[in-house]
Amino acid sequence: MRLFLLYLHILLFNFPSFSLSSSNFLCHPEDSYALLQFKSSFTTYTNYACQEQPQKTSTWKNGTNCCSWHGVTCDTVSANVIGLDLGCESLQGNIYSNSTLFQLSHLQSLNLSYNDFFGTHFHSKFGGFQNLTHLDLSSCNFQGEVPPQISHLSKLISLHLSRNGQLSWKETTLKSLVQNATILEELILDETNMSSIHPNSLNLIFNQSSSLTNLNLQRSGISGNWKNNILCLPSLQELDLSKNDYLEGQLPNLSCSTFLRILDLSYCSFTGPIPLSFSNLTYLTSLSLIDNRLNGSIPSSLLTLQNLTSLSLKDNLFISGQIPDVFPKSNRFQKLDLSSNKIDGQLPKSLSNLQHLINLDLSSNSFSGQIPDVFDGLTKLQELRLGYNRLEGQIPPSLFRLSQLDYLDFSNNKLKGPLPEEISGFQNLGYLFLNNNLLSGKIPSWCLSLPSLGMLDLSNNQFTGNISVISSYSLYYLKLCSNKLQGDIPESIFNFANLATLCLSSNNLSGVVNFQHFSKLQKLDTLSLSRNSQLSLNFESTVNYNFSILSTLELSSVGLIGYSKLSSGKFPGLRYLDLSDNKLFGRLPNWLLNIDSLQSLGLSHNMFESMDQFTRNQWQNLQGLDLSFNLLAGGISLSICNKSSLILLNLAHNKLTGNIPQCLANVSSLQVLDLQENKFYGTIPNVIGELQALHGLNLSHNRLTGSIPQSIGNLSSLESLDLSSNILTGVIPAELTNLNGLEVLNLSHNHLMGEIPQGKQFNTFSNDSYVGNSGLCGFPLSKKCGPKQHSPPSANTLGSEEN
Ligand SMILES: *[C@@H]1O[C@H](CO)[C@@H](O)[C@H](O)[C@H]1NC(C)=O
Ligand SMILES: *[C@@H]1O[C@H](CO)[C@@H](O)[C@H](O)[C@H]1NC(C)=O
Ligand SMILES: *[C@@H]1O[C@H](CO)[C@@H](O)[C@H](O)[C@H]1NC(C)=O
Ligand SMILES: *[C@@H]1O[C@H](CO)[C@@H](O)[C@H](O)[C@H]1NC(C)=O
Ligand SMILES: *[C@@H]1O[C@H](CO)[C@@H](O)[C@H](O)[C@H]1NC(C)=O
Ligand SMILES: *[C@@H]1O[C@H](CO)[C@@H](O)[C@H](O)[C@H]1NC(C)=O
Ligand SMILES: *[C@@H]1O[C@H](CO)[C@@H](O)[C@H](O)[C@H]1NC(C)=O
Ligand SMILES: *[C@@H]1O[C@H](CO)[C@@H](O)[C@H](O)[C@H]1NC(C)=O
Ligand SMILES: *[C@@H]1O[C@H](CO)[C@@H](O)[C@H](O)[C@H]1NC(C)=O
Ligand SMILES: *[C@@H]1O[C@H](CO)[C@@H](O)[C@H](O)[C@H]1NC(C)=O
Ligand SMILES: *[C@@H]1O[C@H](CO)[C@@H](O)[C@H](O)[C@H]1NC(C)=O
Ligand SMILES: *[C@@H]1O[C@H](CO)[C@@H](O)[C@H](O)[C@H]1NC(C)=O
Repeated sequence: MRLFLLYLHILLFNFPSFSLSSSNFLCHPEDSYALLQFKSSFTTYTNYACQEQPQKTSTWKNGTNCCSWHGVTCDTVSANVIGLDLGCESLQGNIYSNSTLFQLSHLQSLNLSYNDFFGTHFHSKFGGFQNLTHLDLSSCNFQGEVPPQISHLSKLISLHLSRNGQLSWKETTLKSLVQNATILEELILDETNMSSIHPNSLNLIFNQSSSLTNLNLQRSGISGNWKNNILCLPSLQELDLSKNDYLEGQLPNLSCSTFLRILDLSYCSFTGPIPLSFSNLTYLTSLSLIDNRLNGSIPSSLLTLQNLTSLSLKDNLFISGQIPDVFPKSNRFQKLDLSSNKIDGQLPKSLSNLQHLINLDLSSNSFSGQIPDVFDGLTKLQELRLGYNRLEGQIPPSLFRLSQLDYLDFSNNKLKGPLPEEISGFQNLGYLFLNNNLLSGKIPSWCLSLPSLGMLDLSNNQFTGNISVISSYSLYYLKLCSNKLQGDIPESIFNFANLATLCLSSNNLSGVVNFQHFSKLQKLDTLSLSRNSQLSLNFESTVNYNFSILSTLELSSVGLIGYSKLSSGKFPGLRYLDLSDNKLFGRLPNWLLNIDSLQSLGLSHNMFESMDQFTRNQWQNLQGLDLSFNLLAGGISLSICNKSSLILLNLAHNKLTGNIPQCLANVSSLQVLDLQENKFYGTIPNVIGELQALHGLNLSHNRLTGSIPQSIGNLSSLESLDLSSNILTGVIPAELTNLNGLEVLNLSHNHLMGEIPQGKQFNTFSNDSYVGNSGLCGFPLSKKCGPKQHSPPSANTLGSEEN
């Protein structure tokens, strides 16, 4: 007896994966053979969807009892293999009709999920497992049609076929299955292809099932207008029809499903209001209707549902009206997301009753008025988003007592007044966004010393005073730009090893800053110090410094005079550099010429005289070059024509002269070309019509002569064309009416003549587009055209005369 107990102890506890029922019996040799053959028909691969799994099949050894193998279950009486669980076994290979799997005819439970069957057809022999109750073939890479024989599995309780995107259903197959499997509870078919099933068939297919508790048809390609939108499933507890992008019609009538707990109808195309009948689903804990086209207002009975803990109505655009002020004390909401709708009015005071709330998102609506002082009871709140509304007044004091808050976004409102000097909460705050408001006063020191803060954005407010010592050591994103801050940049900022974004531009900061100090911030990606007219940047340095990952550097309007002192810097990853509005001139230094990664260079409002040095071989990836408002003279450097990656070229307001070079047509990616206010002469080259990507072309205020090339009518992307204040002659080519996207046209102050072309976009331009051309006539000018025009006919006018 003792010995037996000891034996049992060893059996039960030392081999935890053996179950008594399985291993006690010697498996049948034919089952053993079938399993070993099945195993040997596969190779294995690395499956990233699975955590590291012990390889169950590695315990499968010929000559040992297969009932003791991992993943295998045998019947306690007959010793037949009745369960096979090889989920996440990372098997790879085909399952053909001759597979020995199909010899395991007693199987009741089969899990082959997360293996790769190479797009083999889902074989009809799966329908032969007559006693199967549980079948999981999710993420198996099966292809083709689900075989009609699946409906022979009449004892199924649970069927999972998720994420077999190439597996398609016929309506008759699904209907027979649901009809025959009378005890089916779980039908999980997300990401299989049901595009052949019309939504109007759904109520027929599922009308038969009184057993279904869980139905998942997420992302199954069901599309069309669901007219008879009743789904009558009395035992249903979970329903997921989400991500069927083209499923239209009103939200379904689920009145039969009294016990529904989880309902997900998000990311479809449902229209109309939220039905009042949803408020009868008293067991509902989670309702998601994200990203549909719902309208109407939020029924107050939905907000008082006692069991509802999560409600998401985000991104419906037309849900409007106010939030009914009805939240009862008994409310259990943990998550309430009404963002990106058209809800207006004040925030309800009864929000204070939502004591279980963890996540509240009311952003991107039209809420107005003050934020009510409701936060004292909401002690569990972790995420609070009220950004992009019209909220005004002061931030209520109870907010600053929240201790669990991690994410706070009040940005883009009209909030006013100073922040409190002392606060007792925010110990766990990681993200604080108060940017784009009207906040004023000093930035209180708590704000820059929160222990967990990672991102802080106070930009675009009216904060004044000095920046105090910063001691939030986890900060990696700090934006204080566009305020009225004064004083020095605090030294403490240079200790922030994690800082990736620092924006201090557009303030009144002063003092001398050694630029080299910023290179201590080894993770710095974006640095903006522009427009602090009192700030003096000191580049003098005896050591080499390396901004290893800096990609954006904005030093506009900081009073740089020459740049030779920057010469010891290295900027190996810089892509955007703005040095505009300084006093730079002369030869470019090597550090700047050596930045191979440069994509955008802003040097406008400086004192450069020669264009050549900007167009040589450096900067092979340059996409934007702005040299406007300099003193550039002479002709356009022809080497610019080799800069084939250029998207924007701005040479406006210089003293450039000569012809507009033909070779500019080689820069085929050019989208914006601005040459206004120079001294170019000669004709506009015809090849300009080859710049197919052009959105904006400005050649105004030069001395260009000749006629407007007809080829400009080929620039099909053109939105803005300004040729004003030149000496252009001839008629306006009728081809310009082909420019369907043209929004701005200015041909004023030239010597153009004849009839203004009519039709399409040309019906939208006013007098201003044409003034100062005494020879022009026709709409929109009051001057009518005579019966005969003396202008030489263009090819097009000839063509139209023939018609
Ligand atoms: C298992 O071993 C037996 C003999 O020991 C052998 O006849 C049989 O072919 C083996 N089966 C497999 C699948 O390797
Ligand atoms: C099948 O196996 C996978 C992987 O082990 C597991 O995640 C899944 O829950 C199993 N399926 C069922 C229905 O239990
Ligand atoms: C099973 O069938 C496949 C394809 O029909 C074939 O390539 C394979 O040789 C067969 N395997 C056996 C063991 O008969
Ligand atoms: C299926 O189950 C029934 C009833 O439990 C049993 O009599 C029958 O033998 C089983 N069939 C197979 C193939 O295991
Ligand atoms: C229903 O299941 C039974 C038993 O498996 C089977 O004989 C019959 O063909 C099935 N009916 C349909 C329509 O598939
Ligand atoms: C789904 O199946 C239909 C045929 O029923 C096919 O036309 C369509 O391309 C399939 N869709 C996908 C995404 O495979
Ligand atoms: C659903 O089934 C019930 C009886 O089970 C029947 O009265 C009703 O007409 C069916 N509805 C549809 C739409 O087939
Ligand atoms: C919803 O369907 C039930 C029958 O299941 C019906 O009695 C009820 O009138 C329907 N409600 C609406 C709003 O259509
Ligand atoms: C809610 O259920 C009650 C009782 O079953 C019923 O009288 C009422 O009409 C239902 N309301 C809606 C909107 O379906
Ligand atoms: C809330 O759900 C529980 C079960 O989770 C249920 O017992 C209770 O009746 C539900 N409340 C209401 C008001 O239906
Ligand atoms: C909601 O949209 C439908 C069209 O989808 C329209 O007929 C109805 O008038 C709209 N209702 C409201 C309240 O805007
Ligand atoms: C602000 O900073 C400036 C320059 O660092 C300093 O002279 C001034 O005393 C500071 N003002 C206050 C109120 O700390």
